[in-house]
Amino acid sequence: MKSQDIRKQFLQFFESKGHLIVPSAPIVLKDDPTLMFNNSGMAQFKEFFLGNGTPKCPRIADTQKCLRVSGKHNDLEDVGFDTYHHTMFEMLGNWSFGDYFKKEAINWAWELLTEVYKIPKENLYVSVFEGNPEENVPFDQEAWDIWKTLIDEDRIILGNKKDNFWEMGDQGPCGPCSEIHVDIRSAEEKAKVSGKILVNNDHPQVVEIWNNVFMEFNRKADGSLEKLPAQHVDTGMGFERLCMALQGKTSNYDTDVFTPLIEKVEQITGLKYTSNEVKDITEEQNKTNIAIRVIVDHVRAVAFAIADGQLPSNTGAGYVIRRILRRAIRYGFTFLNTKEPFINKLVEVLADQMGEFFPEIKSQQQLVTNVIREEEASFLRTLDQGLQLLDIVVAKTKGDEVSGEKAFELYDTFGFPKDLTALILKEKGMSFKESEFDASMKAQKDRSRAASEVSTEDWKVLIPGNVEKFVGYDQTENEVKITRIRKVDSKKDGILYQIVLDNTPFYPEGGGQVGDKGTLVSANETIDIIDTKKENNLILHFAKQLPENIEASFIAKVNTDLLTSTSKNHSATHLMHLALRTILGTHVEQKGSLVNPNHLRFDFSHFAKVTEEEIRKVEDFVNTRIEEQLPLVEHRSIPIQQAMAQGAMALFGEKYGDTVRMIEFGDSKELCGGIHVKNTGEIWHFKILSEGAVAAGIRRIEAITGDAVKHYFSQQESDLDAIKETLKNPQDTLKAVVSLQDDNVKLKKQIEQLLKEKAKGLKGELASQLQDINGIKFLATQVDLNPDGAKDLAYELGTLGTNLFLVLATADDDKPMLSCYISKELVAEKNLNAGIVVRELGKYIQGGGGGQPFFATAGGKNVSGIKEALEKAIDFVK
Ligand code: ALA
Repeated sequence: MKSQDIRKQFLQFFESKGHLIVPSAPIVLKDDPTLMFNNSGMAQFKEFFLGNGTPKCPRIADTQKCLRVSGKHNDLEDVGFDTYHHTMFEMLGNWSFGDYFKKEAINWAWELLTEVYKIPKENLYVSVFEGNPEENVPFDQEAWDIWKTLIDEDRIILGNKKDNFWEMGDQGPCGPCSEIHVDIRSAEEKAKVSGKILVNNDHPQVVEIWNNVFMEFNRKADGSLEKLPAQHVDTGMGFERLCMALQGKTSNYDTDVFTPLIEKVEQITGLKYTSNEVKDITEEQNKTNIAIRVIVDHVRAVAFAIADGQLPSNTGAGYVIRRILRRAIRYGFTFLNTKEPFINKLVEVLADQMGEFFPEIKSQQQLVTNVIREEEASFLRTLDQGLQLLDIVVAKTKGDEVSGEKAFELYDTFGFPKDLTALILKEKGMSFKESEFDASMKAQKDRSRAASEVSTEDWKVLIPGNVEKFVGYDQTENEVKITRIRKVDSKKDGILYQIVLDNTPFYPEGGGQVGDKGTLVSANETIDIIDTKKENNLILHFAKQLPENIEASFIAKVNTDLLTSTSKNHSATHLMHLALRTILGTHVEQKGSLVNPNHLRFDFSHFAKVTEEEIRKVEDFVNTRIEEQLPLVEHRSIPIQQAMAQGAMALFGEKYGDTVRMIEFGDSKELCGGIHVKNTGEIWHFKILSEGAVAAGIRRIEAITGDAVKHYFSQQESDLDAIKETLKNPQDTLKAVVSLQDDNVKLKKQIEQLLKEKAKGLKGELASQLQDINGIKFLATQVDLNPDGAKDLAYELGTLGTNLFLVLATADDDKPMLSCYISKELVAEKNLNAGIVVRELGKYIQGGGGGQPFFATAGGKNVSGIKEALEKAIDFVK
């Protein structure tokens, strides 16, 4: 069965059991500060388990793109070395939100595996939670009893908290689980060792394929468990492992999920990958296999993250993506001998293979390819520099052991990987001290951990069960009650309180627009709200202090001065987006945006610099629509299909519901949750301030609107006035400036010419002043030249003969300068050094300098010291 069909059958099966099939959420999470990437199917439903919202259907199923490369679930370093771990993988899942529980979940899982997919029962084992007295959670008798009706009792295994109690993170929903393991070993092997003892023992052919979690608890910040308001089911089946079992393979990489990618790598590198069936391979082949697995795994994670809008960068999620890609590049570099970018060429294969089910990879294919290619090229350059640096380190090392700190420095500053350093040193018969490297690494990790430490208290709930309502589309002021509060202490921001209200006019940061600021005002006190952010379904208002009476009624007031400026920038962003697509082409897609009260920043895909002419056109396009005073047409809740049919622009990597909000200004239509002007006339004017590149194929425009444009224009005007006045108010200012520049160029040339002639004249004069001291032709004198002239003169004199020692002083523009010239043979034979001479003599002019043994200069502050400096020069030759 093809992997495409395996996926389809899973979804069809749960559809037939009354489940709503939903698309995968984007791989990069936007509204959950506790999680960077989607690491399991349930992440997008977390809030439903906690009771902070209701799903549109109590039964849901999907396949979710997951990434386990940071936080609690991190498999990165295993990937490549085994046959069944991945960075990105698909998790097939079915969910019950307060609907069915263990009986249905277990029975359906069994039915699907044994009747639909027809996996022989004698290849399966299941596990049940044995209970944990410390946590006060009992043995899962109910699950045991259900399994007993389906499978021999000796195929049911009891599991401890580590294996059979699933938690998504340090805090959040969790519960006991039942896992299903498949034994795909040969009959011969099975006869030798029972699969039962290999379950949960890292055997590559006795692996977990499906986890059924029975969500009953919430893990609180203090580590304790509390009962959730309802019972839920959360399941996750590893798609790639299921394919392995159903396609009769013993490695995920031998399934059709990976073989097309592997073939492409083989074709590019000319190397061969051997399937898991081929035994007794050489050490060399084993390394090739590992590297190919790393690459075909990592390209999926990186490509899907970029397609979902996460570009590689130096911070946060972008940095994790960059590191994954770099891991792939260096495996290629070291073991496949790839010295040119090539991973980007796999994107095409991936898009062909996955594009039908995940259209984002097809539509973003060009961008993803370009971004990866550029990243590859730049990291290969870094590796090259690292190699050169390593050569220097080796040359300076006495003995055959390089210091571990140096190896760490290479890693830390140049991204030069530890294992590559080890390999290169080994080829030279050298090594580095691993313990020193590890110690430096640990010290750095400790430092960054300390800097990012955050402690979050549990919510103090004042009004339970309330679902916070956002009223900011209609109001900027509203009467509110506090429903819950929480204290967060971080190294970065100190102590902050997060306040949740029953309803709120405060816009939480999102869609590029910054969060609102404002106040909470009660009869007795006023509290500043310094920011507003979303965490899953909650809107959090940040304050440095809490009101004394948290149970009072408050008026929540948004700072409308700031919001008005922000909304002008936001509406202008929409108009500019359309302008760019109209003027540059429909390949332009939004890749990032920031809208705050001061300006707007917009990143978009485009492959060339936006020319001056295009910039003017974009400005005109937007300003025309501002002049037309287009009214805002807001569709607060329209079916997504209807919005898309009307040509609304949506973003990749953004999660949309069935109904969406659409913002219209004339022919600009966008799905957007932000705050906008009521009429484009309010924007007043739009002005682009800069355009540049942020990554391969991604440009950035920064622009301003409204009052900021007024200030900008008046600043420009006063600058121009000042220029005119300085130029004595010419009739044509530009002409006057150009003619000044022309004059300047001409005069510079004349001066150079004159100085050259003067130096020539001086050469003859000075040659006659050379004194013979101990066989050295000596001269120390001041010349009326600039420092460049003095240098030319010194070199000119140098052509006159051997054994010359010259010190020339200048005082151009009242800046004293000493230049020392010493003939090469004096440097070699008499051990004279111009650098030392100027350093010593420089003291008399209160300065310092340096250079080479035969020529050096020193600048100083004290012109009157020149005389003494010149007098002392003779000491060097005496
Ligand atoms: N959330 C569960 C897991 O990821 C199903 O294993």
